[in-house]
Amino acid sequence: MKGDKHFIFIIALIALISGACRNKNIQQNQEDYILERKVDSVLALMTLEEKIGQMSQLSGRWEFTGPVSDDHPYMDDVKNGRVGSMLNITGVKQTRELQRITLSETRLGIPLLFGYDIIHGYKTIFPVPLAEACSWDLDLIENSARIAAEEGTAAGIHWTFAPMVDIARDPRWGRIMEGAGEDPYLGALVARARVRGYQGDDLSNINTLAACAKHYAAYGAAEGGRDYNTTDMSERTLREIYLPPFKSATEEGVATFMKSFNELNGIPASANRMLDYILREEWGFKGMVVSDWNSVGELIPHGIARNKKEAAILAMRAGIDMDMQGNVYNEVLQELVENKIIPEKKIDESVRKILRLKFQLGLFDDPYRYCNEKREQELLLNHEYRLAARKAARESIVLLKNEGHLLPLDKNIRRLAIIGPLADNRYDILGEWRGRGEAKDAVSLLEGIKLKVDARTKIAYSEGCSISGEDRSGFKQAISIARKADAILLVVGESANMAGEGHSRSSLDLPGIQHELVKEIYNIGKPVIMILMNGRPLAIHWENEHLPAILETWQLGTEAGNAIADVIFGDYNPSGKLVVSFPHVTGQIPVYYNHKNTGRPGTNDYRFNSKYLDNPVEPLYPFGYGLSYTSFSYSNLRLSTDTISMKDTLEVRVTIKNTGKYSGEEIVQLYVRDLFGSVTRPVKELKDFRKIHLDPDEEQDIIFRIHTDMLKFYDIHMHRKAEPGHFHVMTGPNSAEYLQQEFILIH
Ligand code: GLC
Repeated sequence: MKGDKHFIFIIALIALISGACRNKNIQQNQEDYILERKVDSVLALMTLEEKIGQMSQLSGRWEFTGPVSDDHPYMDDVKNGRVGSMLNITGVKQTRELQRITLSETRLGIPLLFGYDIIHGYKTIFPVPLAEACSWDLDLIENSARIAAEEGTAAGIHWTFAPMVDIARDPRWGRIMEGAGEDPYLGALVARARVRGYQGDDLSNINTLAACAKHYAAYGAAEGGRDYNTTDMSERTLREIYLPPFKSATEEGVATFMKSFNELNGIPASANRMLDYILREEWGFKGMVVSDWNSVGELIPHGIARNKKEAAILAMRAGIDMDMQGNVYNEVLQELVENKIIPEKKIDESVRKILRLKFQLGLFDDPYRYCNEKREQELLLNHEYRLAARKAARESIVLLKNEGHLLPLDKNIRRLAIIGPLADNRYDILGEWRGRGEAKDAVSLLEGIKLKVDARTKIAYSEGCSISGEDRSGFKQAISIARKADAILLVVGESANMAGEGHSRSSLDLPGIQHELVKEIYNIGKPVIMILMNGRPLAIHWENEHLPAILETWQLGTEAGNAIADVIFGDYNPSGKLVVSFPHVTGQIPVYYNHKNTGRPGTNDYRFNSKYLDNPVEPLYPFGYGLSYTSFSYSNLRLSTDTISMKDTLEVRVTIKNTGKYSGEEIVQLYVRDLFGSVTRPVKELKDFRKIHLDPDEEQDIIFRIHTDMLKFYDIHMHRKAEPGHFHVMTGPNSAEYLQQEFILIH
């Protein structure tokens, strides 16, 4: 019977698929089994000293990324097999030579693992991560990481100390530039994209890097926004806000983790066994954990270890497998094992993870597999990568204000004044953690504009003042060229080293006398477009009140000048949206969108409300905010039903229309509010988004789906679950403007 044949076919197909899966699982198990035997075979050959050597990472002397005493004879350690990994050694020549020394001079010739901070590009520098996250374009973010991995592996690097996935709500903290902003949902998605980009599908490929989720954990919650400072929070806040990106990185298969410098609730991360339990037992992470730069040794100044022995014991018990630039493990672990304070089995567990990673990277098959000078010369800074960097830079730009549609400018503009300390600047646009990026390869804003405009356009340039100095002598010339111009680009902001590690600022104002320069130029009465170049949100209340156009260009990397010119003259319609709130003034910090309502929400003028006498409660620019040269309307928000049970999915539809005259991209955001819970809930939480392209007059229905998993939170008993009740669903262009509907969740 036809039906029987059909039935038999399906059975056969199921058997085939399950057999294939079973074979795939068997194959994976076989591969894992073989890998473990390989690890066993090397481990069995190793002395205790050699094992401990593998757990030590030292920095090269060509570049320091932390405090270092200059006298440590690290080359002796390499030759004696007391180093398992080096950082800050880059380039085929250098890595090959160190590998050669290791293979020829150490007893077992276990290859070195080369790590480096490839945070937003290796040679071709992409926008700083905070900027790139404003693209909300996960494919683009993944591709940037992919290119960084291509270049980094071509330069002999095996392992990047990225992605940095720290949530940050305090822009005084300089390392806010390294992450993806204030939201855990978006931060988690960006973490996944970067892990995919760096690691690809197979770590043994010569163009994939082992990634490293850092800094575990809550490093961005430093009190006062002061780097390395204390963090203290409820377990609920830790798990709701700061851990999700780390959990996502684990689920995405990140190869390694890095512990952070900060103490968390009284216990420094490098000695924090709760963090290790969550990582290993709850999330099932099997990879290697490296300390941050001497964060094991810093347990002593933290006041939780009296000496290096105690520090080593705490760090080992908290799951740190490798001691970065601390020389603690190398100095004391042998004695601790010989005195039976630390079992050698514990050492073996850490060494296994390190050897396993080296096998996965193919280093035992061919320790020189990443040392191909021809590949290095061909790949680094090639044209395709520069185009990708320009695309990423364009999509990272956020249009904050554009009164009277002053932008885009006409390429045939007759007289253009370009003023400010960051206009003719190739250095600071690369930002911090610039890898081996060089200013000589970058395109400044002035250069990008000159390449873009008509040959008859007269461009006058003046620095006006320096970024942080007090010298006003340049104002006169700046004012003079501004008076003669049809429009003025005023390029101000921060130097690269005002953000990044160890670069916290107590004020978010424009540094130096740049604010005075802005006022002087504004008073001339000509059309002024302020172009910001910065690594963190700035407090630009006055500028926002007075200037007609403001473009947030962050630190966009090698192709910054071309990308900004593309936007200024309309070759690209800006689509970026903020991933971190901008305060009016520094004193408003912390200000973030997913805040609690309090019992006296400060949204009205009543005295006894949670507000300031001298400043609005709302941010200057909210999370998710960004304008376009066109306009988009949101209408007809409708739900598939107004009541769902725990097993249902709610469908949310909204119509978006391009109501302006430019084609453009819009990042449609979906927020949810749980109106009542066993604990207080944020006034809204980002749950989904879509980046869509619409031509003028084109409209599109966007469909979101909400299932109860998205409504779970840590309840009064710290159980993660959704609670029945009333919810608002909001969709709009940012976290402060939206259409809203209500639904009920029942059991
Ligand atoms: C630094 C940073 C860390 C970096 C490491 C190696 O101190 O905290 O992010 O990966 O040292 O450079």
